Amino acid sequence: MDLLENLKKIEEEAELALAGADSLEKLEELRIVFLGKKGKITDVLKQMGKISPEERPVIGQEANKLKDRLNKLLGARKEELADVVRKQRLEEERIDITLPGTEVSAGRAHPLRRVTREIEEIFIGLGFTIEEGPEIETDYNNFEALNVPKYHPARDLQDTFYIDDHYLLRTHTSPVQVRTMARQKPPIRIIAPGRVYRSDEIDASHSPVFYQAEGLVIDKNISFADLKGTIQLFVQAVFGEDTRTRFRPSYFPFTEPSAEVDISCVICRGEGCRLCSHTGWLEILGSGMVHPRVLEMAGIDPEEYSGFAFGMGLDRITMLKYGINDIRLLYENDQRFLHQF
Ligand code: PHE
Repeated sequence: MDLLENLKKIEEEAELALAGADSLEKLEELRIVFLGKKGKITDVLKQMGKISPEERPVIGQEANKLKDRLNKLLGARKEELADVVRKQRLEEERIDITLPGTEVSAGRAHPLRRVTREIEEIFIGLGFTIEEGPEIETDYNNFEALNVPKYHPARDLQDTFYIDDHYLLRTHTSPVQVRTMARQKPPIRIIAPGRVYRSDEIDASHSPVFYQAEGLVIDKNISFADLKGTIQLFVQAVFGEDTRTRFRPSYFPFTEPSAEVDISCVICRGEGCRLCSHTGWLEILGSGMVHPRVLEMAGIDPEEYSGFAFGMGLDRITMLKYGINDIRLLYENDQRFLHQF
């Protein structure tokens, strides 16, 4: 019977076509060709009129079987193809986790800032508070109130950047002493880090802009021993327990007596080397007992109160701590330098 034979042919043809279908689109096309409303199986069913009524159910059954069978084949092939597509996508979208990543470079504190913070922490631990003052100062706060009279050599135009008769760029952090005493009654215990300016020629150890930290302590019965103990403790905290200090008599208009403080050389530990010019010592700060005139000008009675003050170069301390041999490195922001910290 031709219709049965037709169905048989359709089956063979469909099997072959489905096995060869290599995409989901192609598969859909084949579904329409064989199983669609105008497809090949429907064609066969349309010819039912031409055959005898007895034969019709047989053909109908066979056609339905074939439909079922093709649907199953189609479904299976669809699965297979979907699997291939999925595998292909996984392959394409695979991430090679062995490749080096993009480096995210985090910012970090500048060595000067780090040392400043460290020093602040040490003094906070001793009960000091942090103070600040403006970089543009009055002549009065920077000099006059610190017992530096007019025509004193320290105010020489060579050293000071004057803005006008009245204002200048502060040459040290000592005016913060003046500002603090004007605002606050004793007891006073402050540390004041900040930028200062002097019209120096630039070289490996001089910069017209640099950093200092000022210390000021005022209370009843403050003596030189308090100054020595405080400085000794500070030096050991920054440079290590075995660092020694030496107080050398010196002169500052705003302290009396005055002393410069040396520490045992951080490189040779006192033996003598190039860094310390074979003396075994390195100068790190100026200090002294606050001059009675300075207290008086601030309205503090020198009969009742006494105090000490000190001023240190933060650049120098940073350089000694990290073995930096040129101050300019601290201001040029060369990434190759900064990345080492
Ligand atoms: N201001 C002084 C300087 O810049 C340092 C100093 C501060 C000295 C406080 C004594 C007391 O050199």
